Amino acid sequence: MKKEERLLRIGILGCGPIAQIAHFDACRKARNAELYAICDVAEDLLLKMAAIHEPRASYRGYDDMLADPNVEAVLIGVADPFHVPLARKAIAAGKHVLVEKPLGVNVEECEELRRAVRKTDRVFQIGNNRCFDSGIAFARRFIQEEIGELLALKAWYCDSTYRYTMTDNLQPIVRESKNARRPEGNPKADKRRYFILTHGSHLVDMARFLGGEMASLRARLCEKFGAYSWFVEVEFAGGALGHLDLTIPIRGDFQEGFQVYGEKGSVQGTVYLPWFHKSSAVECFSVKDGQFRRPLGEDAYTYKLQIEGFADAILKGTPQRGAGIDDGVAAMRAMAAIARSVQTGESVKLAEVTGGV
Ligand SMILES: NC(=O)c1ccc[n+]([C@@H]2O[C@H](COP(=O)([O-])OP(=O)(O)OC[C@H]3O[C@@H](n4cnc5c(N)ncnc54)[C@H](O)[C@@H]3O)[C@@H](O)[C@H]2O)c1
Repeated sequence: MKKEERLLRIGILGCGPIAQIAHFDACRKARNAELYAICDVAEDLLLKMAAIHEPRASYRGYDDMLADPNVEAVLIGVADPFHVPLARKAIAAGKHVLVEKPLGVNVEECEELRRAVRKTDRVFQIGNNRCFDSGIAFARRFIQEEIGELLALKAWYCDSTYRYTMTDNLQPIVRESKNARRPEGNPKADKRRYFILTHGSHLVDMARFLGGEMASLRARLCEKFGAYSWFVEVEFAGGALGHLDLTIPIRGDFQEGFQVYGEKGSVQGTVYLPWFHKSSAVECFSVKDGQFRRPLGEDAYTYKLQIEGFADAILKGTPQRGAGIDDGVAAMRAMAAIARSVQTGESVKLAEVTGGV
């Protein structure tokens, strides 16, 4: 891997599945980062991962890693309910933060974190890796620069019954530990909540990335034969209509994508499971020349690209490309609004929603 001279020294918190299948490798391959330290309370996992990835330091205690002055930034790859408290600790220790999505599990804790982030000059990024997919980034530029006023946006995230058959083939074998620290109860037991937080966070983030701020939404949920389908009607702040489809799982292939209709053009995209490292197939049509444009996006390792973007923002002061704290709070509000709207049957304004999913 070709490395730049100045590397951001990153400490990764969590040696669980996401660190093993994405962040350790991505950090080692990123042109401007070094996997400086890793941390996990589970010593067996920590030792195994240290043997494979050879960080310069390994910590069982998060506080000890934060106390290491050589660690410039932390990547937080632990369970959702831990994100906010552990991100707050990192900020208090003066570290830059890249935290996994979703930002948190309720609106209030995310707002509180936003207040803390605003008081620092540290870079704060959320691991919504889709925006580092060059197809999706191309679509966004095209929407902003070419297609004028937006009429409507559709986006969907439909997980597949066969997802794990596909991903098990693509990902390295994940090591597990009985000593891993997990939140109380089983966060995956309540499927409505778990699916909105884990998959819905990608969907609302992509819809906002392409369509801008959401003002309000109304959601319905149909639950049958162990499958869940949320259809969400969105009003974007810019006046466009939106339709989001979150269906888990469909009896078919994984499907993620979007269509955007504008005054002077339109855009459509098919997004692949990120583990294929294949850029989204995006076609952008402009009435200006009556032609479609389609980017190649040869480097589609979004987990690596998000670390490179994070490190560039810290080391070179380049504008932050990934989701920031405001995006994380807005996504949390959208997810809470979906849950609230399903409960009440009413349209919910994102600015007024409280609580969790
Ligand atoms: N961006 C994506 O595409 C994507 C994909 C999958 C998962 N995720 C996200 O990644 C996050 C983590 O997922 P996971 O499955 O790896 O989690 P996990 O809970 O299985 O593993 C987390 C690890 O962190 C350790 N840990 C937790 N708290 C700690 C602490 N305070 N100090 C030291 N170690 C601690 C645990 O012992 C465990 O080994 C979730 O928020 C999930 O939403 C993102």
